[in-house]
Amino acid sequence: MTTWTLHTGDALTTLPTLDTPVDAVICDPPYNSGGRTMTSRTSRTARQKYLSEGGRNHGYDLGDFTGENRDQRSYTAWLALILAECHRLTRPGGAALVFTDWRQLPATTDALQAAGYTWRGVAVWTKPVARPQPGRLRQDSEFIVWGSNGAMVPGNDPVYLPGHFTGSQPRGAERRHITQKPLDVMRQLVRIAPTGGTVLDPFTGSGTTGAAALMEGRTFIGIEQSVQYAEVARARLAGTAPA
Ligand SMILES: C[S@@+](CC[C@H](N)C(=O)[O-])C[C@H]1O[C@@H](n2cnc3c(N)ncnc32)[C@H](O)[C@@H]1O
Repeated sequence: MTTWTLHTGDALTTLPTLDTPVDAVICDPPYNSGGRTMTSRTSRTARQKYLSEGGRNHGYDLGDFTGENRDQRSYTAWLALILAECHRLTRPGGAALVFTDWRQLPATTDALQAAGYTWRGVAVWTKPVARPQPGRLRQDSEFIVWGSNGAMVPGNDPVYLPGHFTGSQPRGAERRHITQKPLDVMRQLVRIAPTGGTVLDPFTGSGTTGAAALMEGRTFIGIEQSVQYAEVARARLAGTAPA
């Protein structure tokens, strides 16, 4: 039985070709963030933004990725277009969970609602290893903006998920992507889809959402634009035993 599918391509042009209904969209788009000024957000690559010393101090090769240089207005418009296609595929009552950081939180809540989802809340992902900042509040959290396609009706055996998640980015051999999410966090999040349901991630990266979905007994559909990362994700999904 095939429990996952991965498309290599741009989510904006691939999503309109899909017609399989999904129970949850769980995605981690390029944040188009990472800088105090517009110039530093729009002129640097993902590697330069999100890896210290541009990745040179990592002992392994983490590929760069594109789509990181939109200003905030165009990011909102672009994300709304993507999420509108996701909304078209989401079953009534299904959920959308979108990762973001503090800078892009307002843009992301706007895009989610512009796409047609009912905004339901913001969950927090806290990273235990974060640099203390003298005289400032520590930036140790990212956010999961979430909503649903209309009313959510709990079934007979509903899940009770937390609103706060803690987990570190994988290190060493487990680290496959610049902005990889912790598998344990994703394993909790995919449970928003019913057992045996389908999870869609249009920004698959190294396939963490997909691996989590398979481990939790869900089917996975992914899209990834980078050929290098699509290969990483394909190998990872092929090596993940479905529950
Ligand atoms: C933040 S990363 C996702 C990381 C993933 N959550 C993981 O744990 O590995 C975003 C991914 O989206 C991909 N991407 C960027 N623009 C895209 C687009 N227009 N369509 C599909 N994928 C895109 C990038 O190549 C990158 O791998």
